[in-house]
Amino acid sequence: MAVLTRRALMWRALGLSATPLLATLGRRAFAQPAEPQVVKLVAQRFRYTPGEIRVQAGRPVVLEFTSVDFVHGFSMPDLNVRADLPPGVVTRVLLNAQRPGAYELLCDNFCGDSHEEMHGRMIVEA
Ligand code: CUA
Repeated sequence: MAVLTRRALMWRALGLSATPLLATLGRRAFAQPAEPQVVKLVAQRFRYTPGEIRVQAGRPVVLEFTSVDFVHGFSMPDLNVRADLPPGVVTRVLLNAQRPGAYELLCDNFCGDSHEEMHGRMIVEA
């Protein structure tokens, strides 16, 4: 308390108000992060739907997977993320791609004859 009072007196002595400064600092220190973009995908032998998604660089993204028939995998090697996608539940994967470009996503759990063809693309836009 004594410290705060002394500080307030010092500001007053300098003819300054702390309020605008604190407001400025507050905006910088407590800036709200961007709302995550939520993208829903369905995993089903042997594809993801949609097969291509678009997100913005630097904005957090939540991929919401629902598998309808099998424990598919989700892997995005370039971003070093993967998850199992068990059927009947929503599996959420949080991403934050900083660099624009095209990133492959693929199934990495063997799910049948055409497993190797189960892949999609995420376009990260600047
Ligand atoms: Cu789906 Cu492998």
